[in-house]
Amino acid sequence: MSKRILVTSALPYANGPIHLGHLAGAYLPSDLYTRFQRLNGKDIIHISGSDEHGVPITIAAEKEGITPKEVVERYHTGNKEVFEKFGIDFDYYGRTSSDTHRKTSQDFFLRLHEQGVFTKKKQEQFYDEEADMFLPDRYVKGTCPVCGHPEAFGDQCEKCGTSLSPTDLIDPVSAITGNKPLVKETEHWFIPLGDFQPWLKEWLASKPDWKSNVLGQCKSWLDAGLGERAVTRDLSWGVPVPLPEGKGKVLYVWFDAPIGYISATKEWAEEQGNPDLWKTYWQDEDTSLIHFIGKDNIVFHCIMFPAMLKQHGEFVVPENVPANEFLNLEGRKLSTSKGWAVWLHEYLEEFEPDLLRFVLGSTLPETKDSDFSWKDFQNRVNSELADILGNFVFRTTSFTHRFFNGEVPILSNSSGLDTETLEQIGLQKKKIEKAYNTFKFREAIAETMQLARIGNRYFTETEPWKTRKENPEACGNTLYVCLQICAAISVMFQPVLPGKMALLRNQLGVPDGAKWQDVNNQLVPAGQLIGQEEILFKKIEDDIVDKQIEKLNLRAGESTTQKNPFPPLKNIIQYDDFASLDLRTGTIIEAKKVKKSKKLIQIKVDLGFEIRSMLSGIAEYYEAEDIIGKKVCVVANLAPRKMMGIESKGMVLMAEDSQGVLHFVSSEAEPGSPIT
Ligand code: MF3
Ligand code: ZN
Repeated sequence: MSKRILVTSALPYANGPIHLGHLAGAYLPSDLYTRFQRLNGKDIIHISGSDEHGVPITIAAEKEGITPKEVVERYHTGNKEVFEKFGIDFDYYGRTSSDTHRKTSQDFFLRLHEQGVFTKKKQEQFYDEEADMFLPDRYVKGTCPVCGHPEAFGDQCEKCGTSLSPTDLIDPVSAITGNKPLVKETEHWFIPLGDFQPWLKEWLASKPDWKSNVLGQCKSWLDAGLGERAVTRDLSWGVPVPLPEGKGKVLYVWFDAPIGYISATKEWAEEQGNPDLWKTYWQDEDTSLIHFIGKDNIVFHCIMFPAMLKQHGEFVVPENVPANEFLNLEGRKLSTSKGWAVWLHEYLEEFEPDLLRFVLGSTLPETKDSDFSWKDFQNRVNSELADILGNFVFRTTSFTHRFFNGEVPILSNSSGLDTETLEQIGLQKKKIEKAYNTFKFREAIAETMQLARIGNRYFTETEPWKTRKENPEACGNTLYVCLQICAAISVMFQPVLPGKMALLRNQLGVPDGAKWQDVNNQLVPAGQLIGQEEILFKKIEDDIVDKQIEKLNLRAGESTTQKNPFPPLKNIIQYDDFASLDLRTGTIIEAKKVKKSKKLIQIKVDLGFEIRSMLSGIAEYYEAEDIIGKKVCVVANLAPRKMMGIESKGMVLMAEDSQGVLHFVSSEAEPGSPIT
């Protein structure tokens, strides 16, 4: 094992909120791993952040009718927050729109360019005349040439998984206008991945312990032969190509995004007050770089990025890429566009993070796709967390309080069973440790829960409620052993149940700083006073999960019949933000259309205490003479603004309906009344 570990989790696109599929693919496993290794005393950092470039962002912006920048602002902040609430313990969550990232990825590109790696080639590409732009990747849709799926994208068919190029599609259309695209010539920089094939082959051959799903995909890529891959795109959103001939072009998102791991580590180092510290993690050979990703990212992390890193020459290459398969939902493929997803922020409105961490962790798609269902969630919470772990802890601690004044009893004249059971702590510890080290998180969790099962069974078998009278010494031994198991669990389950285990440690008096190495069969000494029993896990009733299933079905049904016609809600503001607006009622007393403007009407509004001149963009919906006398609400403290040479001192509030028609917002209150 190397001296330090650098864990990265795929940078999620900041084009939508985080759902359970994200968690199961990368973020929960990476967090379990990081938390375990940190507990295990390792020098480890966990880096991730928002992927804010590429077609997924610009398409989302077009769909929502806002700018790409607005898209990433909204989701970067929201996603960072929700990860935090769920206990995903990143050391740094960066974003690829940062200055550090722009510079780092441009420098990376330039270095490869100076090394003469790239080839520059003219290429025929689809072009949308109406939208006046080239159509890379997902901007083209059409029929998959491999499986016939009619909705394949220009970069990939999501049905059969084949990776495509836009020109492979049958009957291609522009995803923006639906028009048949033209073909136009453009020029791009390419990385000849084929040149890296011999090195990649040898390197991958030295990783026999990688997961077989990952090695399998790599092998089929290598067998098919690696070709060239364009590393630039004709887009205006992204990291600009840092060459004079690259004007108007940006780096391909899959070129810049993984470099985001490096930029984010730099920003982390700066935050630590040690700006060079990132080098230790990226350049010192004694680092294990581990990428956690979902299976759709394998080729980029096992072929393209390693080739880039190797070529650059100053960086370590990944030690392992433990990619997961996909998570299905209630037996169906998860789909955000069809509304078939469970969003993490919605989950957190109803339930505690630890429950999902346990259930999802127990069913991670480690070797094949797995399924999340609400009934299974309920079942596992009730029958494992509540009935086994919770019950074991509760009966142990409440018994100690009732019959031993809350003190850990002494162990004396222990029976064979007592000793054997105590020894299970060490045995389970070894198994759990091995499972974590080999990325088998399901197994790690099952083996930790196994210790609670062992404890529960032992409690039942030794019947302390009987020995309490017949043989108090034996009764004390039972409680001693059970308390040691509870204490060991309170440390060993920490990566999975950080919140609940902190409560348990506190209750038992196990130091919060206890490390994996400290776990043994005498964590709580005889005589130590423990806290009152508490219910760690409440059972989940049927109606609670039924509601979740209903919600899911309802949303999926709605999204197929009718899309929400209104724009999504804006970010939360504080009361003070609202209070700084001065809204007043008024009456329009004069109105005339602004010449040469399609939209503007110039109006005078009586605010009671003064007459204000304003411009309103409503000419397409109202005739000037028709609105005289209308009662309105206005933003009265808006900074004056000039439009078409006319000054507007305020704004009339309008409601835009689903057809885009504007309606007045009005009040019966006398002119000048503040709206609060
Ligand atoms: N944004 C990509 C996705 O969601 C993942 C990028 S991973 C990185 O599939 F390596 F490029 F950062
Ligand atoms: Zn297909």
